[in-house]
Amino acid sequence: MRLSTALLPGLLVLASPLLAQMINADVTIPEGYRDGDHYTTVTRGGITEEIYTSAEAIAAARAGQPFPEGTRITMDDLRDGALYRILVMEKRADWSDLSVAGSWQFREFAPDGSPDLRQDGSRCQACHASQQQSDYVFTRDRMID
Ligand code: HEC
Repeated sequence: MRLSTALLPGLLVLASPLLAQMINADVTIPEGYRDGDHYTTVTRGGITEEIYTSAEAIAAARAGQPFPEGTRITMDDLRDGALYRILVMEKRADWSDLSVAGSWQFREFAPDGSPDLRQDGSRCQACHASQQQSDYVFTRDRMID
C-alpha cells in the first residue's frame, strides 16, 4: 500500500504527456489538401510556407465567425525550395479542455507524411495561444483579403 501511494505521483506525471500524445495522434494530414484552398504564402529568409484550408473555413473567416468544427489548416514548410515538414492544426469542440489554444490540436509531419512522435503539440499550442482574438490562427486575416 505504502509503495503504490509513493508511485502514484510518478504515474500521473507519466500519464499526462501520454494523454496529450494520444489526443494529437488524431490529427492527420487532409487528403489532397494541395488541390484545395491555398490562401497564403509566407516567406522569411530561405523559408517558404504554403498554407491551405477548406472553403468552409475561409467562408467562416470572411463572415467573422469562429472556424467550424473539423477545420484543418495545413502548412507546407519549404526550406530553399524543398519540402522540410508539414504542420497541421485541427479544431474539434471536444478537445477544448485539453488545449490551451481553444479547441485546436497540433501535429508535425515529415515530408513523407510520417508524424513526429516526439512532439505532443504542446509547444505549438503555447505559441498559438497568443492568437485568441483570431481563433488561434495567425494568418486568419489573409483568408479575408
Ligand atoms: C513560436 C511560435 C510558434 C510555434 C511554436 C508554432 N507556431 Fe504555428 N505559426 C506561428 C506563426 C507566427 C504563424 C504564421 C505564419 C508565419 O508567420 O510563419 C504560424 C502558422 C501556423 C499554421 C497556419 C495557420 C496559422 O495559424 O496562421 C499552422 C497550421 C501552424 N502554424 C501549425 C503549427 C504546429 C503544428 C506547430 C508545432 C509543431 C506550430 N505551429 C508551432 C507561430 C508558431
